[in-house]
Amino acid sequence: PLPEPFTVPLPIPRVLSPLRTDEADRYTITQRPATAEIIPGVHTPIWGYEGIFPGPTIESRRDRTTIVHHRNELPVPTVVHLHGGHTPADDDGYPTDLVLPVSGWDHSGHTMHDARARITQGARDYVFPMRQRAATLWYHDHRMDFTGPAVYRGLAGFHLVRDAEEDALGLPSGDRELPLMIADRAFDEDGALMYPSIDRTLRSVPGVEDAYVEGVFGDVVLVNGAPWPVHEVSATKYRLRFLNGSNARRYDLALEPGGQFVQIGSDQGLLDTPRSHDHLPIAPAERYDVIVDFGQYPVGTQVTLVNRLGTGSTAQVMRFVVARRGSDDFRIPAKLSEIEPLTREHASAIREFSFRAGHFHGRRGWVIGGEPFSPDRMEARPKLGDTEIWRFVADVHHPVHMHLVGFQILSRGTLPPGQFDGGIKDTVDLSPGEAVEVIARFDDYRGRFVFHCHNAEHEDMAMMANFEVT
Ligand code: C2O
Ligand code: CU
Repeated sequence: PLPEPFTVPLPIPRVLSPLRTDEADRYTITQRPATAEIIPGVHTPIWGYEGIFPGPTIESRRDRTTIVHHRNELPVPTVVHLHGGHTPADDDGYPTDLVLPVSGWDHSGHTMHDARARITQGARDYVFPMRQRAATLWYHDHRMDFTGPAVYRGLAGFHLVRDAEEDALGLPSGDRELPLMIADRAFDEDGALMYPSIDRTLRSVPGVEDAYVEGVFGDVVLVNGAPWPVHEVSATKYRLRFLNGSNARRYDLALEPGGQFVQIGSDQGLLDTPRSHDHLPIAPAERYDVIVDFGQYPVGTQVTLVNRLGTGSTAQVMRFVVARRGSDDFRIPAKLSEIEPLTREHASAIREFSFRAGHFHGRRGWVIGGEPFSPDRMEARPKLGDTEIWRFVADVHHPVHMHLVGFQILSRGTLPPGQFDGGIKDTVDLSPGEAVEVIARFDDYRGRFVFHCHNAEHEDMAMMANFEVT
């Protein structure tokens, strides 16, 4: 039986402590099967980083190398990607750079071939230089053809980057800073997660049953792994870091009975100046960093975070209860950060990619530029240091994500960027029929990277492509 909404307390994923700090901060994470009490009294089998969902939060300082040793005690290969990380290619979690299970892996029946793949047995280190601004990043599984079911079973966690520029703002912190991973799930009668894989063993046949080609949706909205949780707050300002960790569901978040989200950051960190919104549309993998002032409500008010795109059980997300008086002298600064605007004059190339329904493995799927994903095909070769405009064109909704770089949104069709397009992004939600132009500077690292739709089912059904920074 599902709980009444707003009865389960909001969990906050624990922050992982480094095992050692020398010239780098070193962590170890074991990926393992576990059970989680998501529904009170019910034990749900999950796959978790450290056996928990969401995984533990990692906190990095800008420019300080973070090394995470991942050990794979799961029954299938895994790949870790730090989403939003400016990470060299070898450590970026390329979809064929598998970490095979410690228990061994029989390759028979597995069809994928990639001469460049770096496959390791049992465990490996991922090295993240973290040469990037403070931001809300997240890490999740990225195995070719099987990302959707692996993330759905629990392989996702926060990775926050902090820096001096952000520290200087004195943003709400401690228990007034809440990372919130929103993800929908469906459960069967035994409390098991229901994912409609064609091959339930996740060994060789990718994709979902035909009815789920659009994506896998659940009727239960989890925040940090708890169904429609409740959280007591003081009547003061909080920093909420929203992440849509859902496989396919988009949300339009709003507060009832009314109230503003003051956006201070986007996918890749702080905006230049704050922007007030009375709702927040958020597609899979997008992040919003916002300040909500619970001081605007009388003590005792129940403030519900709702989803205006949902109906029934998916129309509600969580509840804040303004439990006590609070005060702070924090004022949201008029100037948050410096962002160099990239404009058309900077661009040395314009490329266009269509995101449309197509076929792969003889079944329905999703393709970029008419082609299903293959590790062997290179769609773009930007030169290190170059700035390029990439134009994405969609048939239906596709949240498009580029690895390695942050980008700025230049246009939406004939319109300028919208009110939610500010700052530096790494994921942009395309509306049906829309063409969006983004501009990025490829100045981080050389090597092979992917860009793809972050509807995890679209991604697994081949909506992914390569670029190589040369
Ligand atoms: Cu969040 Cu390529 O992924
Ligand atoms: Cu898509």
